[in-house]
Amino acid sequence: MSRTSGAKRIGILTSGGDAPGMNAAIRAGTLLGLSKGCEVFGIHQGYRGLIDGDIRPLDAAIVEGIIREGGTILGSARCLDFVQRSGRDLARKQLADRGIDGLMVIGGNGSLTGMRALIDPSECAEGTLLAIGLPASIDNDLGLTRLAIGVDTALNTIVEACDKISDTATAHDRAFIVEVMGRDSGYLAMSAAIASAAEVVLFPEAGRSEDDVAEVVARAILKVRGRKNRSKRVLVIKAEGVSVPTERLKLLVDQRLKTELGPGASAETRVTVLGHIVRGGRPSAFDRILASRLAHVAVRALITGETRKMASWLPPSGLPETVAKRSEADPQCSLVDLDAMLDETKRMFERSSQYVKWRQRVFEELEEVLTL
Ligand code: F6P
Repeated sequence: MSRTSGAKRIGILTSGGDAPGMNAAIRAGTLLGLSKGCEVFGIHQGYRGLIDGDIRPLDAAIVEGIIREGGTILGSARCLDFVQRSGRDLARKQLADRGIDGLMVIGGNGSLTGMRALIDPSECAEGTLLAIGLPASIDNDLGLTRLAIGVDTALNTIVEACDKISDTATAHDRAFIVEVMGRDSGYLAMSAAIASAAEVVLFPEAGRSEDDVAEVVARAILKVRGRKNRSKRVLVIKAEGVSVPTERLKLLVDQRLKTELGPGASAETRVTVLGHIVRGGRPSAFDRILASRLAHVAVRALITGETRKMASWLPPSGLPETVAKRSEADPQCSLVDLDAMLDETKRMFERSSQYVKWRQRVFEELEEVLTL
């Protein structure tokens, strides 16, 4: 939906898990908004700050240099009050009191679902508040965008860590299980596995039982140990969302190895959990560019009166214009319909998405190739 008069006072909010590149989006959104004659405001601590009225003007001096920084200068939070209608009413009042008529929400599934509720026509007059989302989640678990802000940096962090682990693993002919973030999505694990030449990748979408997972890992280790004149390094990348806890997996795999190789064989696995390290750090050049370009598209959309959309990076081809419309300002970006995006995100979580099924199939087919 678009209206003839666009936003003149724009609020920017980051919410949910932070992602490297959020600051680049804040900076680009602020500078573009100011250059178009808008006033721009930073809403601190996500929806929590919106409800509490923690809203302060942004200017060029505040955003100077932030493109280089990880995290988000606006802070982030997960806010239960916002789930209630009363919380959202308060949030809308805070915006209305300040005359903020456009909102750019930078975040993941929960944050953009919150944005939809904030502009729900059953709760407020349609078009009084315009809102455009920006996908930001290191998990890359949002629909209708090939990439979300933060994914590239997270992937580079994982690959750098895996390269280091590979050095010591190769020196000792050891097997390592490296756990990476990804509560519901195996994207980071899968991509990192390709980039760091892992022998095994474990992702939640496969829905494997504990025994199956342990069996796959033990089989791969035994296969690699049988190689002649080759390194015995084994790198297993496991997404945190895989149902078997990583320490338990180690136990199950070690038991299997002991049974196969005999008690004397030194075939114990090692575990590294990368955890929140993967979410921090300076954003990569690509994340800075991606976030800046998406924010550019989003703020332009707000100024021209667009709402209920997400700025997307290369959405799947073949979608009707009502679902994905190529941005006139940036041909690699599109504005995708918020409902359609959240529906596809739900299918990705439920694993009925064609894209997720394809990813899963490819990796299952490649399982043997990785250990050659
Ligand atoms: O941002 C997504 C994510 O990193 C997930 O991969 C992870 O499970 C979760 O956030 C961790 O959240 P928290 O920072 O609240 O522990």
